[in-house]
Amino acid sequence: MAASIENRGQFGSKLGFILSAAGSAVGLGNIWKFPGKAYNCGGGAFLITYILMVALIGTTVMLAEFVIGRKTQKNAIGAIRELNAKYSWVGGLGILTGFIILCYYCQVGGWTIKYIIAYITESATVYADPTAYFLDMLGVNGFPLEGAIIYPLIFLGLTSFIISRGVADGIEKLSKFLMPLLFVLLIGLMIRACTLPGASEGVAYMLHFDPSTINGNTFLVALGQAFFSLSLGMGVMITYASYLSKDENLITNTGVVCVLDTSVALFAGFMIIPAVFATGIDPGMGGGFAFATLAGVFMSIPGGTIFGLLFYALLFFAAITSSISILEGTVAYLVEEKGMERKKTVVWASIIIFAIGIFYTLSQAFLPIKGIWWSMEGLQFPIFGDFMEYLTDRLLLPFGAFFTTVFVGWIWGTDNAIKEATSDGKYKFALAPAWAILVKFVAPAAILCIIIAGLFLGMSIS
Ligand code: PFF
Repeated sequence: MAASIENRGQFGSKLGFILSAAGSAVGLGNIWKFPGKAYNCGGGAFLITYILMVALIGTTVMLAEFVIGRKTQKNAIGAIRELNAKYSWVGGLGILTGFIILCYYCQVGGWTIKYIIAYITESATVYADPTAYFLDMLGVNGFPLEGAIIYPLIFLGLTSFIISRGVADGIEKLSKFLMPLLFVLLIGLMIRACTLPGASEGVAYMLHFDPSTINGNTFLVALGQAFFSLSLGMGVMITYASYLSKDENLITNTGVVCVLDTSVALFAGFMIIPAVFATGIDPGMGGGFAFATLAGVFMSIPGGTIFGLLFYALLFFAAITSSISILEGTVAYLVEEKGMERKKTVVWASIIIFAIGIFYTLSQAFLPIKGIWWSMEGLQFPIFGDFMEYLTDRLLLPFGAFFTTVFVGWIWGTDNAIKEATSDGKYKFALAPAWAILVKFVAPAAILCIIIAGLFLGMSIS
């Protein structure tokens, strides 16, 4: 075992791991998805539900993934196989989910690069008609060469380059540099947004708690968002923790990563919603929110172009540290289990991800593809992209997390898991009995209820 660990990468420091895991967690989910969902699901009521989901279920599942990874020092499938060979498919399900997410994640990541360049070179064109500019990037006026091909390719190329450099030189170095920068940028933008005239209504909306707006759908959206945002249910945290030394305290790491990720989501909410209220722009949410709607915001505030540029830089930084973690999950599996060479694996995985991902962008507005999608009978999703998000956020992620908790709680056993979590008793874990109950009963039951409710509650993903 020692030899195989030596051949694998390892995080060089405690801070490096925390920032890399937080880098995985903090991503488009926090800035592109969270504010829109918070707005649509009633502001304060959603925030409370979300925090509850993270505190009870998110932390439980994250620690479960950390212990599996650190115990076995293996990729998601190899790790579960080592603990109980019959259940290695749980890891496989996670890797498949991450793979699907990465297909669309790289496309949106590419859009952030396009917008960074647009704000430098042609902000006047963006401002002339923000929605038209966005739809043009998506192909409403013809094949979207930039939006579907060029920029996603650059984004994926950068992701692949970092991954091919390995754990300490690639992932850790980048995260140590980008994560603090992201925090500074985000807090600066939030202060700017909240001090705009008229922003207080947006702040009030986010703080207003009306319990009558909470329903089954709120829980479902909050839970799916929590898993996505914390990078859970995909084996990514198993993979990252597998690069961690036995001396690290997994319990505090879980707390720190969950708090960091949730703070970023809240900061993003308190940046975007007040800004939208202040400028009186209709928050036409959905995928175009961070692009089309916000351009209207940047256009109407003093110094908006600089803030816009910083915002898209922020979005890009957040996206790239997450996309490398998803790709790492797949690559670690192929290298360790299939004996493939790391660099070659990265290239092949990227080509496949890119080829599938193109259809995410093409289905948004490019009629020849959108038209084929529309012509399918009984379609419940306006675009292929909605289907991909529904499949991952609503079904695969919750199922992945469900099986992870069942595996740790009932198959591998909470005693073994707690032993690993405390590094064989080296660290205190006062909440161990509570965590055991959460992982065995509360989390699987809650996740299952929410999945079932979701299947009967309509298809809204926002
Ligand atoms: N947590 C990331 C975000 O909030 O954008 C997305 C993500 C990263 C999902 C890693 C899945 C994953 F494995």
